[in-house]
Amino acid sequence: MPIDINAIIAETRGKNFELYEEHINPVFVKVLRTLGFNRTWVRGEGAYLWDEAGTRYLDFLTNWGVFNFGRRHPAIRNALQQVMDSEFPGWVGFDAPPLAAVLARELVKRMPPGLDTVYFSNSGTEAIEAAIKFARGYTGRPSTAHLAKAFHGLTMGSLSLNGEASFRRGFEPMLPGSSEVKMGDLAGLEARLAKGDVAAFVFEPIQGKGVNIASDEYLLSAQELCRKYGTLMVCDEIQCGMGRTGRFLASQWIPDFRPDIVCLSKALSGGYIPVGATITRRAVYDSVYDSLHRAIVHASTFGMGNMAMAAALASLSVLDDEKLMDRAIVLGERFRKGIEAMVPRFEFLKGVRQRGLMIAIEFGQPESMSLRAAWAMVNKMDENLFAQAIVLPLLDDHHILTQVAGHAMPIVKILPPLNIDESDVDWFLAALEDVMIKLHKFPGPAWEVLKKLGNHALTAKKREARATA
Ligand SMILES: Cc1ncc(COP(=O)(O)O)c(C=O)c1O
Repeated sequence: MPIDINAIIAETRGKNFELYEEHINPVFVKVLRTLGFNRTWVRGEGAYLWDEAGTRYLDFLTNWGVFNFGRRHPAIRNALQQVMDSEFPGWVGFDAPPLAAVLARELVKRMPPGLDTVYFSNSGTEAIEAAIKFARGYTGRPSTAHLAKAFHGLTMGSLSLNGEASFRRGFEPMLPGSSEVKMGDLAGLEARLAKGDVAAFVFEPIQGKGVNIASDEYLLSAQELCRKYGTLMVCDEIQCGMGRTGRFLASQWIPDFRPDIVCLSKALSGGYIPVGATITRRAVYDSVYDSLHRAIVHASTFGMGNMAMAAALASLSVLDDEKLMDRAIVLGERFRKGIEAMVPRFEFLKGVRQRGLMIAIEFGQPESMSLRAAWAMVNKMDENLFAQAIVLPLLDDHHILTQVAGHAMPIVKILPPLNIDESDVDWFLAALEDVMIKLHKFPGPAWEVLKKLGNHALTAKKREARATA
């Protein structure tokens, strides 16, 4: 009997958390329950999710920036259905898959001049791993440099470039010679590069954690330094690329910027099939695949699959046909103006950092005495707590999924699909305003919820401290 996937989904509805905690990750289920993210989703379409009560939610989390084109985009679905119905074979192994070759050509068209060769993998972290190997292979050097607060993935190579100690703890040693430098600190970068052992300087032009935007001056000067010392520049566009900022690559906002390697993943295949791409110069690629014996010296069994390639080709067409990069700029402006207009009214709200639809909303210490006490109270309980004071009521009261931008940052990040409309922006702005009004009443119900969460966090911290003592 053919397996009935819809029946499985229906049967497990509401029981999925127990099953998941039993066989997958009980700690994560605890987090979901604590934060109230343990909803039972039954439908996803475009920018929206529906729960079992039929309530519609606006998804500005987009699985950490995967759904640039929303869920179930008809053009991407159609391309996948064509692959499913086709007799054309996938993964012969000893073959040159045509869809991969066409996708490579399409990607190259969208790259800065000189990046003409593509390696395909299945995730963001694999795209970075390939970049590290290519840079080592080309330069013959062992080391890497990365930025503080960087996030490039969680396999060992990418993890070695992670700018957050809590991700690395317990998994040391990292790759030898991996060094952290601060964004903006050119002297620090030069001091590191001058040692002559750095194969690659790996960076996100806009960091996913915190939405820190590297300035044009910094990246152009870093490029000069990298050229001077023979280090390759690896530009991680896994989250900020694919049109999110209003250009195909976020780094393409900087004229004359010429990275040596670009990494893409996430939205490249429209949220259906995992994919990763590492795009570089022919000379870099050829230094790795340098003999018949080494023709597949770096490869992956599932790389270049027909489904992933077809979904990516369809995604690129959607981006162009629907002029979504222009939309990202227009809608991003609407968010920015709306949020900035609220800043003078709300003491906790400090500003917005944004390029296109990669948006961080910043919060900070208020002026008035009573609100200062509230701010101090939550930050003392847990430095991650304040941002949750925004994320949780946005979800509970306004049915909008957002995220805390990173560890210990009073910043909320939104990564909306690029094809939302103005009414979705206004839905969010009205919700943020309401959350702000309520948080500016202290004491008040909004703070009670936070206190409860803070107590949870304190208990968890104590438990962790006891366990590691
Ligand atoms: C900038 C950036 N690089 C790399 C990665 C890793 O991608 P993946 O989770 O597909 O391995 C991520 C994931 O969030 C990311 O945001």
